Amino acid sequence: MGPARRSVPRALRLLGGLTVPLLLLLLLCPPAAQGDCGLPPEVPNALPTLKDSDVKSFPQGSTVTYKCNKGFIKVPGRPDSTVCLSSNQWSEVAEFCNRSCDVPPRLRFASLKKSFSKHNYFPEGFIVGYDCRPGYNRDHSLSENITCLPNFTWSKPDEFCKRKSCPSPGNIPNGHISITTDILYGATIYFSCNTGYRLVGATSSFCALGDQGVVWSDPLPECKENSQTTKDKPGVQKSPMVNVPATQSTAVAPRTTTPFHATSPQKERGTASVTERYKNEGAMII
Ligand SMILES: *[C@@H]1O[C@H](CO)[C@@H](O)[C@H](O)[C@H]1NC(C)=O
Ligand SMILES: *[C@@H]1O[C@H](CO)[C@@H](O)[C@H](O)[C@H]1NC(C)=O
Ligand SMILES: *[C@@H]1O[C@H](CO)[C@@H](O)[C@H](O)[C@H]1NC(C)=O
Repeated sequence: MGPARRSVPRALRLLGGLTVPLLLLLLLCPPAAQGDCGLPPEVPNALPTLKDSDVKSFPQGSTVTYKCNKGFIKVPGRPDSTVCLSSNQWSEVAEFCNRSCDVPPRLRFASLKKSFSKHNYFPEGFIVGYDCRPGYNRDHSLSENITCLPNFTWSKPDEFCKRKSCPSPGNIPNGHISITTDILYGATIYFSCNTGYRLVGATSSFCALGDQGVVWSDPLPECKENSQTTKDKPGVQKSPMVNVPATQSTAVAPRTTTPFHATSPQKERGTASVTERYKNEGAMII
């Protein structure tokens, strides 16, 4: 480049491929001992990992490995070390650190495609895809991908998987099914019996994963007429609380004109459903 090249061509030919900061570094440092390489070259966004004893002496054959600076990730497949060659030159190290997004977010409804599960380098513009988790159906009108944005955050994922629907629960003779939200995967429905009937079986059921698709966790209960109860086996009277609240059973005669599943029990079921649903979802979506 400058006139210096003509005056000392041989020395500069050795330095040919090296960066300006490295040239300065070499010029400022005391000359390396015979058979030494001198300080290892600078690599952008990386620092050599040096032991104290290394700092002054790099004999031929010695290897120096670099570590990416904070916020940078090693580009897979690129060498991250240099060797002092017999020519007393360090072998070339190409730039190998780059900025990267964090690992892609974990989604409630989808899991990262297997092909990305071992990645940790996600440069700007990198796209990763997801597969719907069991219990969810793909919505093909939406993208299953997210992209590493210029500010090294991930683009916001669409809700590209929708919860599968359990079959319609049907109905309970002399009873009632309360659907508090919907009948989709993770939802809980609640059962009750009309006044004068006793519930035998589960009081609720949730839409859970089956072998294929989603299924109800519990079958519908039976509502048995109370008058028959006394004739049944003695062990049957185990859950009177479920169909007759304490207030009604003490204060009101069994035969009342008000339908049993009226306002206040409904409210209680509502709150129970929210907590139970989250419990169920938390337990199932792991
Ligand atoms: C860093 O990532 C950007 C975006 O993918 C790419 O264009 C650039 O070449 C990468 N730099 C290095 C040193 O690999
Ligand atoms: C998601 O990414 C894959 C792989 O890059 C691509 O083939 C596909 O078309 C993308 N899907 C959408 C909806 O952009
Ligand atoms: C990153 O960029 C996106 C798109 O420009 C923006 O919506 C988001 O708020 C930015 N995030 C941060 C942390 O700056």
